[in-house]
Amino acid sequence: MIMAVLRCGRARFVASVLLMLMMVASVSHAGGGPIKTVVVVVMENRSFDHMLGWMKRLNPEIDGVTGGEWNPTNTSDPGAGRVYFGEGAEYVDPDPGHSYQEIRQQIFGSDDATGPAKMDGFVQQATSIGGGNMTQAVMNGFNPDSVAVYRDLVSNFAVCDRWFASVPSSTQPNRLFVHSGTSGGATSNNPE
Ligand SMILES: *[C@@H]1O[C@H](CO)[C@@H](O)[C@H](O)[C@H]1NC(C)=O
Ligand SMILES: *[C@@H]1O[C@H](CO)[C@@H](O)[C@H](O)[C@H]1NC(C)=O
Ligand SMILES: *[C@@H]1O[C@H](CO)[C@@H](O)[C@H](O)[C@H]1NC(C)=O
Repeated sequence: MIMAVLRCGRARFVASVLLMLMMVASVSHAGGGPIKTVVVVVMENRSFDHMLGWMKRLNPEIDGVTGGEWNPTNTSDPGAGRVYFGEGAEYVDPDPGHSYQEIRQQIFGSDDATGPAKMDGFVQQATSIGGGNMTQAVMNGFNPDSVAVYRDLVSNFAVCDRWFASVPSSTQPNRLFVHSGTSGGATSNNPE
């Protein structure tokens, strides 16, 4: 059995990208092609770094987190404070913002998407919608021991960590991509 955990986006923090895919394939060398089964598990609202970033401790090859990652509290104020990424994630409810507009702010630090994608707007965007609690939520990932099933899967199987989200937005456009390779231009859950 091979398990590959595919990273969904360069997004560093929890709110950034909706879907994380896990593919599980049973492999047999007895006749025919080697891949017998592929299981795709699609999860919502959790980035790679949130769920698996700290797994870098188990395998340094994983493009995860070290705790040195941070966001400014205000992207337009260089003197503003910093919030560093921690390992205190717990059940997150309500979810951080993950509309197209909110993710644009997270990735670009503002509504202006013409500049470099500095991934510096997660704290600012979280604070704007949920105050300290939401900031805490987006700047934390799970300690591997808190997600023991993932910890053991990561310890025993392959982890693919360079996979990108199809649409930096909510559920349905990404589901459409999973099933049909396009969202038909949709960037939100609302039928146009
Ligand atoms: C993901 O976010 C959507 C929209 O906020 C919400 O309806 C859904 O329950 C969330 N899913 C999970 C697994 O948190
Ligand atoms: C962020 O910093 C800018 C520039 O100093 C300031 O104009 C703005 O009010 C600050 N935003 C918040 C939410 O404090
Ligand atoms: C933060 O979370 C705690 C625990 O759930 C809750 O009691 C508190 O009201 C929340 N604060 C805000 C500002 O939402």
